[in-house]
Amino acid sequence: MATAAPRGGLLGRVKPLDAILATAEKKSLHRTLGAFQLTMLGIGAVIGTGIFVLTSEAAQKAGPAMMISFVIAGFVCAVAALCYSELASMVPVSGSAYTYTYAVMGEVLAWMVGWALILEYAVGASAVAVGWSGYFVGLLKSWGVIVPEALAVGPSGGGLINLPAVVISLLITGLLILGTKESARFTSALVLVKVVALTAFIILTLPVLNGSHFTPFIPNGWGTYGVVGAAASIFFAYVGFDAVSTAAEETVNPQRNVPIGLIGSLLFCTVFYLLVAAGAIGALGADPVRNAAGAVLAPGSAELTQQCQSIVASGATEPLVCSREALAHVLRSIGYQRLGDLMGVAAFIALPSVVLMMMFGQTRIFFVMARDGLLPERLAAVHPKYKTPHVVTAFTGIVVTLAAAFLPVGQLADYSNSGTLFAFAMVALAVFVLRRQDPSRHRPFRTPAVAIISPLAIIGCIGLYLNLPFIAKMVLVVWGAAGLLVYFGYSRSRSHVGRGILDVPEADSDAPPQPVPPMPGAPTPGYRDA
Ligand code: ALA
Repeated sequence: MATAAPRGGLLGRVKPLDAILATAEKKSLHRTLGAFQLTMLGIGAVIGTGIFVLTSEAAQKAGPAMMISFVIAGFVCAVAALCYSELASMVPVSGSAYTYTYAVMGEVLAWMVGWALILEYAVGASAVAVGWSGYFVGLLKSWGVIVPEALAVGPSGGGLINLPAVVISLLITGLLILGTKESARFTSALVLVKVVALTAFIILTLPVLNGSHFTPFIPNGWGTYGVVGAAASIFFAYVGFDAVSTAAEETVNPQRNVPIGLIGSLLFCTVFYLLVAAGAIGALGADPVRNAAGAVLAPGSAELTQQCQSIVASGATEPLVCSREALAHVLRSIGYQRLGDLMGVAAFIALPSVVLMMMFGQTRIFFVMARDGLLPERLAAVHPKYKTPHVVTAFTGIVVTLAAAFLPVGQLADYSNSGTLFAFAMVALAVFVLRRQDPSRHRPFRTPAVAIISPLAIIGCIGLYLNLPFIAKMVLVVWGAAGLLVYFGYSRSRSHVGRGILDVPEADSDAPPQPVPPMPGAPTPGYRDA
């Protein structure tokens, strides 16, 4: 373990880039992933509840113009991905947005990013679990087994608890405790299931596309409860591409392959999503449901559930915006009962892998933060038999399960988005700042036209954030404030960088953090705050 003097960043302590890279070089992970596997990994992490479930929510806000929402959200992710690519190829280590921010803008902002990533990963995992539950309940119903509403949705949707979401979250927590890494890898194998299911959906729906379903195209305008608001929510459908950057350490020629993986998976998903959205709208229509006064009802609200129930009771086909299993419902409505069930089976099989991936990502972030001394090292204790970080996994699992039990999918996705947008904006800022601070450092991949792309990514993230529902915006503010309390109350005095410890040995990015000797209260020689 060595000590050194970290230089000051924008807002305080910075973990020098060279120390991060030196640490990364020591790692013994095999570099086995190529551009193709990386793209598959990205697609595997990205396709999930967003397209399978939130299509209904986006339609409730934007109507047929949700296609524009998909393009807006995809565009913001693309410019953010170009920024991610520069840092991921320069700093091919785990921790992604958190690590980049630490190196460029200092510990406080890095902490805030890591803290926000808890929203992205843990709350995101809950959203996907609830999305899975919708398909599972629909599949059972199609087979004649009715799950009572009280056990199928949380209180705000008119039920008591989302039992299937609880069960799947606990099962995945158990699986992660039994064996981490292999289970995360399994995700890429399920890519095929998702791609085949969505391709079949496109092939079946596009021929029955009814042009009149696309008018009025923008029923609710462009605002927070219209096209841009839908983009802010459907942004969730693209989240996960940053998983590619966290695999940089295991990538052959990361300089070339990481940008290809990030941008390739994003492009693929954008085109796919547009075709799926067009198919769903064209086959079934995407009119938002309104109350008697003509006001558009909020997605996930009990009022919307009631209105939907009365539409179905009147004998009309359930509108797209009412369905909790949008894609299966579309197929059943156009006469493909069995194929609708198969779509349900595909979601049943494939969505849990996204939950798993996000929970795995969460434990990874906790690890890296604990390794830097910002979180208790006990949190990353490894189980003597299973060799997995059981404490942090169980902790993550409980949080994910509680959120999934009581909150609706759209709200969870919006909360997750608020954290993710913050992290993406920070990465875009970090690229820009690093170009100024350290222009001569070797950059294997350079964000093209960085003076335009980086501000565009920042503005795009802020724009989407501002168009999230009020509560989702407040979640980031309140969560951030709690994060600052923890940082100044606990983490700051324990930070390894703050104590001058820059070289923490690690054999593998999954290894638990190494304990460091307790330091007396006196400031470490060599360290200074900016
Ligand atoms: N993009 C992932 C999903 O839609 C998180 O489920």
